Amino acid sequence: MKKMYRLFGLLILVLLLAACGSDSDDADQSDKDADKGSDTGVVEIFSWWTGAGEEDGLLALIDLFEETHDDIEIENAAVAGGAGTNAKAVLATRMQGDDPPSTFQVHGGAELNMSWVEADKMEPLNDLYEDNDWLDKFPEELIELVSEGDDIYSVPVNIHRGNVMFYNMEVFEEHDIEVPTTIDEFLEVAKVLEEAGITPLALGDKESWTPTQILENVLVAELGTEDYGKLFAGDIEFTDERVVHAIEDFGKILEYVNEDHASRNWQDSAQLVAEGDAAMMNMGDWAKGYFSNDLDLETNVDFGYFPFPGTDGTFAVITDTFGLPKGVDNPDEVKEFLTFLGSVDGQDVFNPLKGSIPARIDADPEEYDEYGQDAMEDFKTAQLYPSLAHGSAASEGFLTKANQAVNIYVTQGDIDNLVDALQNAAPEM
Ligand code: GAL
Repeated sequence: MKKMYRLFGLLILVLLLAACGSDSDDADQSDKDADKGSDTGVVEIFSWWTGAGEEDGLLALIDLFEETHDDIEIENAAVAGGAGTNAKAVLATRMQGDDPPSTFQVHGGAELNMSWVEADKMEPLNDLYEDNDWLDKFPEELIELVSEGDDIYSVPVNIHRGNVMFYNMEVFEEHDIEVPTTIDEFLEVAKVLEEAGITPLALGDKESWTPTQILENVLVAELGTEDYGKLFAGDIEFTDERVVHAIEDFGKILEYVNEDHASRNWQDSAQLVAEGDAAMMNMGDWAKGYFSNDLDLETNVDFGYFPFPGTDGTFAVITDTFGLPKGVDNPDEVKEFLTFLGSVDGQDVFNPLKGSIPARIDADPEEYDEYGQDAMEDFKTAQLYPSLAHGSAASEGFLTKANQAVNIYVTQGDIDNLVDALQNAAPEM
């Protein structure tokens, strides 16, 4: 009988323990459920802004956010490599594995829409725009770039300009060089500089996007913004004689770059201009951030700028934006960060350091130096065109093939080859 009681007691104990266990499992589960859609206290920001000339704006933005939001910690998950050379692949793996960052850097236009929105990976943010009264605070063209149908999918933090030629003012002065306004003028000036022993144009194509950026500007110089748009809409073929002519010009320009271009990245090639070894460089105006913050050069004293020859009156738009991927644990906290990113305070702490102009139309021009103020003025009146090299004009698939073909052209100079490669890749645009 005693044995029976003991067995019974044991059974009760086992049942009690099992019940306790399942209570705590339930508690764990309900903690997890509570986390989903509420708060984890951490927002992970994924970008490719690391190191010189890239991260200053982001770090200032994070500092100010954390100062004003002490309940949320930012995890800065940046993967080095200009124009997302490495970050985009890491992001793709994470998105495919249902492990999205809380928010990530993505260019408005094709990169956002074709890679992520059409794959049903992003949450619409219309409520955020409405709650913050943003619909008339961002330029219409920009909202269009981050929308699909009636839904808005990301928040632009900036507008970079891609058709800028930066130049060393002392070199220009010393060699009596006038700012070239057409490609022919550029080629004349380049000849003079070369004869004087100066590299006319700095290039660093260790990462493959930099010559593609030059090509897109040459295409606009030849076609104008409207037909450039038609080219990437598939309404004009890459075999069009104006495209062929642009590629010829591109080849002539490439004759004037530094010999070691393949071993430099964009910062290394900007250094050639800073030191006066090269006279000019076509780079998006993140180079302005690099010149000012990292190399301590003064705008319109040490370095000057002009529109890429033949593209005056136009503006190659590159907009860095951040959205809300589906499936993140704490969408409300991510939205708090996005709200800050889209605020005047957020934009005005980020952009003067980044070299870009604010995406908002009501930011404070006084926060920007002469370069920034000029770019803001130009943006208002210029004909805008989306950058190919920075993901806005065509899909990632097309861009990858275009970058490869352009890089082969840089070394081999075969015009037909490049035309064919672009035309063959066109169905993927
Ligand atoms: C662009 C990006 C810029 C800058 C640049 C160089 O794609 O929009 O913000 O980071 O790459 O990495």
